Amino acid sequence: MLKYRADYRPASCKVISAGLDISIFDDRTFVTTTLELERIGDDPFLLNGRELTLHELSIDGRVLDEADWPVSEAGLSLEGLPAKCVVRTRAECHPESNTALEGLYLSGGMYCTQCEPEGFRRIGFFPDRPDVMTVFTVRIEAGRQFPQLLSNGNLVETGEVGDDRHYALWHDPHPKPSYLFACVVGDLDLAADKFTTASGREVDLHIYVETGNTHLTGHAMESLKRSMKWDEDTYGLEYDLDLFQIVAVSHFNMGAMENKGLNIFNSKFVLADPSTATDEDLDRVESIVAHEYFHNWTGNRVTCRDWFQLTLKEGLTVYRDQCFSADMHDEGVQRASDVSLLRAAQFPEDASPTAHPIRPESYREINNFYTPTVYEKGAEVIRMMAGYLGRDGFRRGTDLYFERHDGNAVTCDDFVAALADANDRDMSAFHGWYSQAGTPTLSVSRRAEADGVTLSLAQATPETAAGTPREPLPVPVRLGFIGADGQPVRTHLDGENDARDEHVLLLDSAAAEFRFVGEAGSGPMTPSVLRGFSAPVRLVDDLADDERLHLMTHDSDLFNRWDAAQMLATGAILSLAGGEAVAVEPLAAGYRRILGDAALLDEFKAGTLRLPGIAVLEAARAPADPVALFSARRGLLASLGRALASEIAAAIEARGQMAGHAGGRALLTQLVELGVAAGDADAIAAAASMVADRNMTISQGGLKALIHSEDAAREQALQAFHDRWQADSLVMEKWFQMESMSSVGGTLDRLEELMQHPGFDPKNPNKIRAVLGAFMIGNTPGFHAADGSGYSYMANRLVEIDKRNPQIAARMALPMTRMANYDQPRQDLMRAALATIRAGAASNDLKEVVDKAL
Ligand code: BES
Ligand code: ZN
Repeated sequence: MLKYRADYRPASCKVISAGLDISIFDDRTFVTTTLELERIGDDPFLLNGRELTLHELSIDGRVLDEADWPVSEAGLSLEGLPAKCVVRTRAECHPESNTALEGLYLSGGMYCTQCEPEGFRRIGFFPDRPDVMTVFTVRIEAGRQFPQLLSNGNLVETGEVGDDRHYALWHDPHPKPSYLFACVVGDLDLAADKFTTASGREVDLHIYVETGNTHLTGHAMESLKRSMKWDEDTYGLEYDLDLFQIVAVSHFNMGAMENKGLNIFNSKFVLADPSTATDEDLDRVESIVAHEYFHNWTGNRVTCRDWFQLTLKEGLTVYRDQCFSADMHDEGVQRASDVSLLRAAQFPEDASPTAHPIRPESYREINNFYTPTVYEKGAEVIRMMAGYLGRDGFRRGTDLYFERHDGNAVTCDDFVAALADANDRDMSAFHGWYSQAGTPTLSVSRRAEADGVTLSLAQATPETAAGTPREPLPVPVRLGFIGADGQPVRTHLDGENDARDEHVLLLDSAAAEFRFVGEAGSGPMTPSVLRGFSAPVRLVDDLADDERLHLMTHDSDLFNRWDAAQMLATGAILSLAGGEAVAVEPLAAGYRRILGDAALLDEFKAGTLRLPGIAVLEAARAPADPVALFSARRGLLASLGRALASEIAAAIEARGQMAGHAGGRALLTQLVELGVAAGDADAIAAAASMVADRNMTISQGGLKALIHSEDAAREQALQAFHDRWQADSLVMEKWFQMESMSSVGGTLDRLEELMQHPGFDPKNPNKIRAVLGAFMIGNTPGFHAADGSGYSYMANRLVEIDKRNPQIAARMALPMTRMANYDQPRQDLMRAALATIRAGAASNDLKEVVDKAL
């Protein structure tokens, strides 16, 4: 059944307060909900409940006969309630057999919860919708073998119950919806620290982990303190409780969850130090800790009215964590990495059967809408509005948003209205970005003139599976010009007096022309358009390769320098895949200039050498033979490896020194990967010895460089890595991933072996992703085997996974729905595999994804 955004109706009762009583036993858990209600409408009031056994229902103390229970499909539908009343339910749920990892479940011996978006209804009867916010008091009771009994807010009281049980009472003074409730019951180790807020309040910071792991919490703790400080400095937002808790759990569907005052994290995004995690992993820990912390205001204090508004909190919070990471590290490097993700994950989604606007109009299963579109494109939309208003204007807007809506559940329209009202600006055109799916194409062509150039800009939004309107959108275009000498050329826009290095145009119609006049004597100039990726569009321009090389070498905008390299590399790979000969030397010369540019960070240099991934290439050439693209990409790596042999040799020579800082490590591993692709014996030897390094960035870098190599070093390195880390569950995920991504060793037989390995756990999403997810994304020749064996293998695995964990099955099925990217024979094979999935799918989650594709 589809739900529509337009069908929103407010709940018919206010919940003045909620009491929860959770009592955990080995074979069942009892949950009592006590709701103080005030009626504000005449509709029935729904207490959602799913897979619960109701034991008792009372209204104002009057116990209802079982025959009178108002049981509906979704839960309990209460009609004719008094204007004020107290409703109480007592029910039973079964965390011990919950494999969906939604609601209350067991993970590695501890009980934990995941309620967003609709998991609370699997714990107890409750109005499980984000616009019902209330103050929670929670009593948790369990056996004494579980010392920690954690929930949101402040600990009020603890005590004994008989000889072997105990309880804790928690009160959260901030009203919140059910999806932000959490509880954790277990035997955990604690890492503690403190943070003093700008107004001088002391906050206890607690990170709970499985026993023996506190030594791996330092990075997460420091990241948390930096996030708290940044939100004070940047948005004037302080933390609002005396305690902030993070719990790391091994079984978790997502990355992490922002439950009020009690964030729950996938342990891989907490437990990290340089010996077990790469620099990239550490940065990811930092940005996820920040993201969940930032939700305290953007999501928790001000939340979503309904789940169609999800991007209100997720797009905004991703934008905030991106800005935080840029401030902690380097803006250009961060932007390149964020845009890479957008292009690799969101652009393909926007062109697929599951395309949707950042604020969808309908859904069957909300869990399927935690997507790159809602998140990453949502963040781009916020970024465009922030850029349009300027830093101070955006801050005025967010200040007004919090002032108006604190403690409420609101809509995307409310957010845009706050931005507009605070600045007295008309933002109405931006609404189109919320309601239209599809990646607009921005075409730019030039007409040279004696004293400058006229740029013709045009936009067009393609038809998508979402069928949403395709009106012109406001597209901010930041641009400048680079002269023949490599210096910025100051130009003035026709009709303006000031000459500038850079302009920001707003293209809000289908097409427009802009005439730029260069300063006297400026000579020929190369346009550098869409600087900083100022809008989430596909840019189609008329630059020649030598002009791109010029920008790659000289652009004052770092993002566009990176992007010029990406465009050139993409062009080269597509030509190779089409069987054309490619002269690699000009591109190699461009890389040499980048490598030799003392003004650039090593991280940036490494980023330019990271060739576009398969997903980006597929999108540029659909429908394509993905295996040909994979080989062409390997081919370009090899040619560049040969052309840059002396740079690679120098890096290997300087390995000791480069390994001393993150940028050096990124560059070293990138160059070694090129050398290995070229079959260079020294590079292979270097990679093999790197695998044994004590620093995980170096070690994993060596291993990753080898996984597609036919050299015997590949197997030896994988074995050595395995033997060293077999007792470390998180590091073993890297090993599983490398094994299954290998286009040489990652056969279907090997996948079967991996899933029999003692370190594999079929109930753990990280492990499933490490083997099967990595196979689909990283092992192109295996997954896209021409005989369809990869597709049918995955189809059967997904049907099995769906029985246990529908969310994971639905998410992992997405690559199978991107048929249109591929040649006809593969499309047919994928369709057949999808039919297998459709026949075996048990869940709404998986059915929705597959039905859209078929
Ligand atoms: N609110 C989400 C977590 C979530 C998503 C729970 C979907 C249930 C269903 C959280 O804030 C989030 O967005 N987490 C991301 C990581 C983040 C850094 C983008 C995740 O888990 O992938
Ligand atoms: Zn989030």
